[in-house]
Amino acid sequence: MPKIKRIGVLSGGGDSPGINAAIRAIVKKANWEGIEVIGFKNGWSGLIENDYIKLTLRDVSGIIQVGGTKLGTSRTNPYKSDKDIEKVKKNYKKHKIDALIAIGGDDTLGAAHKLKKHGIKAVGIPQTIDNDLAETEYSIGFDSALNIVMHAVDQLHTTAYSHHRVMILEVMGRDAGWIGLFGGLSGGADVILVPEENFEISEVEERIKKRAEVGKYFSIVVISEGAKPVELDQQITKDAETDEFGHVRLGGIGHYLANQLQEILHLPVRVTTLAYLQRGGQPTAFDRILATRFGVSAVELCKEGNFDRMVALKANKVVPVELEKVIKNSPKPIDKKLLEMRKMFY
Ligand code: F6P
Repeated sequence: MPKIKRIGVLSGGGDSPGINAAIRAIVKKANWEGIEVIGFKNGWSGLIENDYIKLTLRDVSGIIQVGGTKLGTSRTNPYKSDKDIEKVKKNYKKHKIDALIAIGGDDTLGAAHKLKKHGIKAVGIPQTIDNDLAETEYSIGFDSALNIVMHAVDQLHTTAYSHHRVMILEVMGRDAGWIGLFGGLSGGADVILVPEENFEISEVEERIKKRAEVGKYFSIVVISEGAKPVELDQQITKDAETDEFGHVRLGGIGHYLANQLQEILHLPVRVTTLAYLQRGGQPTAFDRILATRFGVSAVELCKEGNFDRMVALKANKVVPVELEKVIKNSPKPIDKKLLEMRKMFY
């Protein structure tokens, strides 16, 4: 196995708290092993445009607690054009990169996997607040986001019970309801609506009425942006625009539900959209440790020449899994038992 001398690193897709902790761990572990690190800026765009910085120990000092990503991120798809792929190959060679670590969700890691046939040796680190990457129990950012959702539900409770209102909290989660379900359960929400299960407005109404029957004149509804009532053919989107991976921007289901409920319940209903607040700020202790473990393990995989893999958390052990499997099996659906369990809590 030829000795690795230089590792490239990039972060792509939606940011989340904990990416910097992973970058820090990569640089520290690489330095420990006598390996140099180059950081490409703004996801795949950095490798296409040759926009990079050398990452030294000094660069990663004091960033474990800082959210977002020091390298910047973007939703650039290197497969958008053949020219871009050629540029990626050229810059990878130019910098004499022996291994590339890509930090991101299914789009970023999907591109890393595809690039294998172009000679790019990549290792992935799972990072998405959506926690919908398959083959890993946790992705960096999920725990931080869900804590923000939990606190938001706590905050909404006090104003909901004081005003006897129905409070709807719209959270992120395009195809998977991990944030909605875990955030809702931990905050004690009364109704949790997720993309995995289309819902009937009448079920929500019934639940709110049942609460009133036992003297509870307020309710908290947590709804994922990707959740859909049975009467709609499509998820509610902000506009028709798509990103380079073909994703539309979701948003608005909270207000849709509020309008429907207000008509049938004749109760005051208010909507809060958590949006980017749930992706911002400092990482939790869990995410800092997870990112640190993932960063160190990713460098180990590079050293071993174990490419086209993603570091994953399984039964609290960090293990390598095939990127191909991750891409094939994502989005990771919520456990059916947990989905069922939420129905008891109201
Ligand atoms: O990265 C995943 C995610 O958090 C989704 O839940 C959400 O739909 C999307 O990002 C929105 O991100 P942006 O507006 O930055 O593209």
